[in-house]
Amino acid sequence: MKTRIAGTGHFLPKNVVTNDDLSKIMDTSDEWISSRTGIRERRLATEETTASMSAEAAKLALADAGVSAQDIDLIIVATVSADHMTPSTACEVQAAIGADHAVAFDVNAACSGFLFALQIADMYIKQGVYKNALIIGAETLSKIMDWNDRSTCVLFGDGAGAAVVCPAQDDNQGLASITLGSDGAKGMVLAGINRSNNNPYVKTDIGPHYIHMDGQEVYKFAVTTVPASIEKVLDEAGLTSEDIKYFVLHQANIRILQSVSKRLKVSMDKFPISLDHCGNMSAASVPVLLDEVNRKGMLEKGDKIVLAGFGGGLTWGACVVEW
Ligand code: COA
Repeated sequence: MKTRIAGTGHFLPKNVVTNDDLSKIMDTSDEWISSRTGIRERRLATEETTASMSAEAAKLALADAGVSAQDIDLIIVATVSADHMTPSTACEVQAAIGADHAVAFDVNAACSGFLFALQIADMYIKQGVYKNALIIGAETLSKIMDWNDRSTCVLFGDGAGAAVVCPAQDDNQGLASITLGSDGAKGMVLAGINRSNNNPYVKTDIGPHYIHMDGQEVYKFAVTTVPASIEKVLDEAGLTSEDIKYFVLHQANIRILQSVSKRLKVSMDKFPISLDHCGNMSAASVPVLLDEVNRKGMLEKGDKIVLAGFGGGLTWGACVVEW
């Protein structure tokens, strides 16, 4: 028995911030940002929170799947920017949507988080422990950005995407293969820093928590690891890239996507893009893009798509899904 994606949804903050808007508050330009990344604008939260965006995305995914909140057994939110250390974002979503019977927890695998949540849900469903799961990738990265670091803060945006997953009706549908990976030894090339020990026995001058990144190292990691992980899941599913309708990849940088398309010898037409209007939303990027593709009517039953994420940890993940 396979696990299928039965419905999707996404929610973005209403505040649109263009590259020109950023150039008014820091030393940058639309030319620098768009030529190196493909990003033209992003949404930055004002009153929206990681939990509120997750709940709105979840409601849309439930409606798309035709499943009620009362039917949800499991909620997993992938995030590195939860509003609280506890309760988890997943518990907040449970309360907000009234999923009274669900077990709820968060996972932290940065930009690969949605893939990690999908595999966890898949294992619970295949074991028969839970039936209907809500998996969400959500971030309010703007609150953990260093707004004095122009090389990093211009790249990211806020948002949430969700999917309902449940047992497939037949074996020609659902998750065909999935791989995850981690390389903690390289963790500090993309890190959310500043949570040092601080208690009566050790005093730390704690500054703000923020994201620090060695962009070129992350780029090198992405352009080698992503094609390799995609080739692995294609191989495991007994497919080639020609069988795949769309490659729904984490939206970090257009140059990374172009490099992956070249290495896989696949046209960029098969790579849907949301980074131009969303920026990099870490765990939210893959499910937001998946929902955009779904809502545009670009997917039909039987289509095979690849989802892939990569980022902080370092972590990565890829899967083949038959729609
Ligand atoms: N606006 C204008 N100038 C900027 C800038 C900005 N927002 N940010 C940095 N610069 C300047 C730097 O100060 C530096 O200037 P200097 O050469 O005078 O010191 C110069 O631009 C660096 O430019 P360049 O060498 O062309 O940068 P790059 O080609 O390495 O591109 C990234 C930088 C971040 C766009 C690129 O490394 C990247 O996309 N990496 C992947 C990052 C990523 O996607 N991370 C998330 C993965 S989940």
